[in-house]
Amino acid sequence: MQGDASRATGSAGGNHPTFTGNKALAQIEPLLFEIGRYDTTGVDIDEPEDFQPRLGGLERREPIGLPGLSEPETMRHYVRLSQQNYGIDTGLFPLGSCTMKHNARLNERVARLPGFSDVHPLQPVSTVQGALELMNELGRYLVTLTNMTAVALSPKAGAHGELCGMMAIKAAIEARGEGATRNVVLVPDSAHGTNPATAALIGFKVKPVPAREDGWVHVEDVKERLGPDVAAIMLTNPNTCGLFEPQVAEIAKAIHDAGAYFYCDGANFNAIVGKAKPGDLGVDAMHINLHKTFSTPHGGGGPGSGPVVLSERLAPFAPVPFVRVKDGEFELVEHNDEAGGSAAPFGRMTAFHGQMGMYVRALSFMLSHGSDGMKQASEDAVLNANYIRAGLADLMSLPFGDKPCMHEVLFDDAWLKDTGVTTLDVAKAMIDEGYHPMTMYFPLVVHGAMLIEPTESESKASLDLFVATLRDLAMSAKKGDKERFTGAPYHAPRRRLDETRAARNPVLKWTPPAPVAEAAE
Ligand SMILES: Cc1ncc(COP(=O)(O)O)c(C=O)c1O
Repeated sequence: MQGDASRATGSAGGNHPTFTGNKALAQIEPLLFEIGRYDTTGVDIDEPEDFQPRLGGLERREPIGLPGLSEPETMRHYVRLSQQNYGIDTGLFPLGSCTMKHNARLNERVARLPGFSDVHPLQPVSTVQGALELMNELGRYLVTLTNMTAVALSPKAGAHGELCGMMAIKAAIEARGEGATRNVVLVPDSAHGTNPATAALIGFKVKPVPAREDGWVHVEDVKERLGPDVAAIMLTNPNTCGLFEPQVAEIAKAIHDAGAYFYCDGANFNAIVGKAKPGDLGVDAMHINLHKTFSTPHGGGGPGSGPVVLSERLAPFAPVPFVRVKDGEFELVEHNDEAGGSAAPFGRMTAFHGQMGMYVRALSFMLSHGSDGMKQASEDAVLNANYIRAGLADLMSLPFGDKPCMHEVLFDDAWLKDTGVTTLDVAKAMIDEGYHPMTMYFPLVVHGAMLIEPTESESKASLDLFVATLRDLAMSAKKGDKERFTGAPYHAPRRRLDETRAARNPVLKWTPPAPVAEAAE
């Protein structure tokens, strides 16, 4: 590892190089493969007595070649790695469209209660009545907050929820006998990539609705594309440009008049909880990212949770399983034939019932906030994003004019023109300043997009420091201090990686270095 060009060294890494390469608490950590030894193990298991091989000679005879570490070494490895990770508990995490919300410790504590954390999906329902009651209650809150009829809790992330909602729409269209003819889904250019991917995955043709200069989807653009072949529109509201769609109700009406369904990508529901109900806007199906809206942990690939709420028209096409109350007991409807005519022909989305731990955290968030608190969380999220917008609007450029945004504010890279600095460079310089970068180059409709979402839980002091830091960076770029950006990050454990090479030639397997030849005797 020594001499690794990507490691932060030299004057920017400190004028006092250390023997170990560590810098006090900033400790470097090699790969498990580099520090582990094949002859070491953290556990000590006796050889079984009278062992009779039963694999007909196919047993492995050589060591498997995985590195072994003692228990303390293992612990240190993962703790050191975790210290190199930037998390929402480390500082402001401005990723737009990914909503890194603070997870209140109360929610974590409740989720760890053994009655919730130790239940098994195959336990008899009589022994998990409390867990089922919690799921039922969470579902009740979700349909109330959205003014929809039914909820499918089981989808495991936003994209999975999209799949569930669109499968319900497909099933409804097939039940109308129009499966062969209604095969087009309208998707605005500004949509998250998961929207067209979902529609295409289940066999729909995707027809784009072009982006307009004001960042909004216009009803006339939708009407132009409507016809007897259109099954649905997938519209995100608030949209990925951080704007509320002002024509959403007219778009819903046009869609319904044409016999199609309105799928709403509800990933940004955290901007409007308690303020607007998607059901009132004409939505037929919408997923809710619990991890964005109701404070459940996000990042690192999960566990996510993306319940889908359905309108009265789509409620009969909800998947199993779902919770039902019968004679004062909670029961899980697991199979279509038990559903009493209200179950999707496609059955279920997941093996079991979804992410119990996320349900507990989400309901804990809801109950601890109350309806006024949830409304205030949305208002504060919007206020915080607008505070950042107002603090930066004179230095950074806003693609759709200086109008109020929702929970996230979108800048483009026009303000970097002629500076030789790119959006990526700004993101890397933010790492040196101790911030996780904002979302970059998304949405695609904006050149060099920088999408910033502070969330509701940031204090004014924290926002002020963030704004001052970005102002300082913006002024540096405009003054021509290119080096601050193009070589960044200078202070991270790793310097700038060759992202193109990493994408084109991903190294997915560790190969042991060639053995060093023994010195001649
Ligand atoms: C607008 C939008 N839609 C859908 C998704 C997909 O959600 P998930 O990452 O939970 O699958 C995201 C995720 O970031 C999003 O921002």
